[in-house]
Amino acid sequence: MKHAVVILAAGKGTRMKSRLPKVLHPLLGRPMLAYVVEAAEKSGAERVVVVVGHGAEMVKAALDSAPVTFVEQKEQLGTAHALLAAKEALSDFSGAVLVTSGDTPLLSAETLKRLAGTLERQGGGMVLLALKLDDPFGYGRVVRDARGQVARIVEEKDASPEERQIQEVNSGVYAFDPEVWTLLPRVRNDNRAGEYYLPDLVALYREAQKPVGVLVAEDESELLGVNTRAQLAEVEGVLLARLRRKWMEAGVRMHLPETIYLEPTVELAPDVVLEPGVILAGQTRVGEGARIGAYSVVRDSELGPGAEVRPHSVLEGARLAEGAVAGPFARLRPGAELAEGAFVGNFVEVKKSRLGPGVKAGHLAYLGDAEVGAGTNVGAGVITANYDGENKHPTHVGEKVFIGSNSVLIAPVRIGDGAFVAGGSAINQDVPEGALAIARARQRNVEGWAKRKKRYAKEQEVEE
Ligand code: UD1
Ligand code: CA
Repeated sequence: MKHAVVILAAGKGTRMKSRLPKVLHPLLGRPMLAYVVEAAEKSGAERVVVVVGHGAEMVKAALDSAPVTFVEQKEQLGTAHALLAAKEALSDFSGAVLVTSGDTPLLSAETLKRLAGTLERQGGGMVLLALKLDDPFGYGRVVRDARGQVARIVEEKDASPEERQIQEVNSGVYAFDPEVWTLLPRVRNDNRAGEYYLPDLVALYREAQKPVGVLVAEDESELLGVNTRAQLAEVEGVLLARLRRKWMEAGVRMHLPETIYLEPTVELAPDVVLEPGVILAGQTRVGEGARIGAYSVVRDSELGPGAEVRPHSVLEGARLAEGAVAGPFARLRPGAELAEGAFVGNFVEVKKSRLGPGVKAGHLAYLGDAEVGAGTNVGAGVITANYDGENKHPTHVGEKVFIGSNSVLIAPVRIGDGAFVAGGSAINQDVPEGALAIARARQRNVEGWAKRKKRYAKEQEVEE
């Protein structure tokens, strides 16, 4: 039988103590809810409906590219009331209805499929995904009758002391046959919370003489729910551990793996080496044998084979070709491109600039909107003055140029192949190929000045 998945995500998430709706809190750079939507899609759902309420506009905007239908639950009157909000949207759908929550991001597509399969095999009715917990506090307990069949679910608030001892709990994930739409309006709110409880459908299905099955979860970590920041961190930890394991199995070397953060969008080749504290985010691709030094942050960047990022560097939107080296303490901003064997050292910032093969900028430089030809050497303290207060201008530096330390290249400016720029120059005119440019005040030496100054200082002392 075909199935639809309804994701309940209208609740406020009070315990997160956040302005951001709970289901939008990111896990490895993606909103929690996106994981649930992905699992729903991968389970083969014909339709995915997300019930939104608190922060509805924000939630919709964050997931606007996902192929889901949003429905709004204006007032949060309980989980049964929330599912009812999806009725309209599924009025033309006659298959099974799987229900899960936006705050259970580790639930897998496989588990959803198994749930749908169990429903089909038992011939309709409903199936509840349960789990056994040492500490069941806060969960709805699964109450079984004398024959061992599920009789009903009782919420923590409404449970008797004996019922609270039950360790089998409701995960909040269910599969229902289409009968759910006729039973749902019969759920009442005569409980401690005054809410319409979705688990009350257990009793209603039983009254209707329909089968009520229980599937006990194989991997209970899948059902970790996020209600607090601590749980958010725990869930992220599970995702990270999985990712690290995946890449290590694919041939990546991680030193102190538990200190390494990486997002699911990152791709790593075999023999990549990641040192402790590395952060890899966004659309980052790292080629074979490349090394990323301790405490470096690499976002949306590409590293060719054998490239090296030395410790404490920050890369965003940068590209390092084969064998290029950056750092320690390098800052590569969007559009920074290092060709094969180029080297950028400590405290060098590069933005929207291409450094040709073998270019060296070893220390304390700023290169912005620049094109630097192969084999050029950029001295310490060299700066491209690319901004005149209104516009950005380009700097073109040819091949095998030598730019002396502490020079400022005032853009727009061109420096020809093989030219030399004397240290400390302020270059605001083009330099022809092979020329030497000196653009600084000429030095003057005043003979004997220091001695005279000393005598003068002595006289002063005596006078005092
Ligand atoms: C629910 C179950 C409980 C189960 C637990 C598992 C009920 C009454 N109880 O409790 O048996 O053990 O999940 O985690 O269902 N929501 C709405 N609209 C509402 C209320 C809730 O969309 O009016 C959404 C929430 O955003 C959340 C989900 O439904 O994503 C579950 O609601 P929550 O309040 O967290 O239920 P629990 O107390 O966890
Ligand atoms: Ca919950």
